[in-house]
Amino acid sequence: MDIVSDTLLYEGKAKKVFATADPGVVRVAYKDDATAFNGLKRGQIQGKGAINNQMSNLLFAYLQEHGVPTHFIEQVSERETLVRKVRIIPVEVVVRNLAAGSFSKRLGVAEGTDLPQALVEFYYKNDELGDPLITDDHAVILGLAEREELEQLRSLALRIDHLLVSKFSDCGLLLVDFKVEFGRTPDGEIVLADEISPDTCRLWDSETRKKLDKDRFRQDLGDVEDAYQEVFARVKLACAQLPREGRSV
Ligand SMILES: Nc1ncnc2c1ncn2[C@@H]1O[C@H](COP(=O)(O)OP(=O)(O)O)[C@@H](O)[C@H]1O
Ligand SMILES: [Mg+2]
Repeated sequence: MDIVSDTLLYEGKAKKVFATADPGVVRVAYKDDATAFNGLKRGQIQGKGAINNQMSNLLFAYLQEHGVPTHFIEQVSERETLVRKVRIIPVEVVVRNLAAGSFSKRLGVAEGTDLPQALVEFYYKNDELGDPLITDDHAVILGLAEREELEQLRSLALRIDHLLVSKFSDCGLLLVDFKVEFGRTPDGEIVLADEISPDTCRLWDSETRKKLDKDRFRQDLGDVEDAYQEVFARVKLACAQLPREGRSV
């Protein structure tokens, strides 16, 4: 497969997306750039691109093996991966197991409080508006997704949560919450897209509850690079038995 094409299709805050010779396939290149608070805080986390790319691929391969359809095709370098080109559904799906972040702030629930059941939230993926929290009705009325698709997103997100909680538990990590994005393939299938990494998950050490994710950058807690490396090392170990490739196209 030709991966030498360098037509940049779009550049986001954390990744660049390039066209390939195959119109159904794009090459994603992960950057070390880090942003927080809707782009107000900017910086770099050395080695983050390589870690997020490889960690995301290990987890996508794991989810794929357990029946979750994903965009993952093949890792081509430390920071680059071929994925199925999808039309991203502009709904960010957040799953929370413990209270943290905007949930704690908005609703006055102490960070780290166990939730009685996993909570799924939808946010409108729109940087200008600051990714606002929306209801199903908002999503349908804005034409972001159909009601049946939202049900599908909710049930996929809960399955992903279940599988990730178990995998991260093998790593001695508590999955506090995470954000995922889904996309539609040309034939209308909904697949998990984007990334799963310490940028998009809150992960705490199971024993000490030390934060090992992007909150170290957001909150200036220090040791940011070390935290990303620690998480990646543990995930690599827990995923050691997995095949390297996802589904082929
Ligand atoms: N399989 C895919 N096909 C097309 N676009 C994708 C795919 N996976 C992720 N993307 C998109 O690539 C863009 C770049 O990613 P990123 O830098 O994380 O963007 P953002 O600044 O929106 O967080 C995002 O718009 C993301 O939704
Ligand atoms: Mg992103």
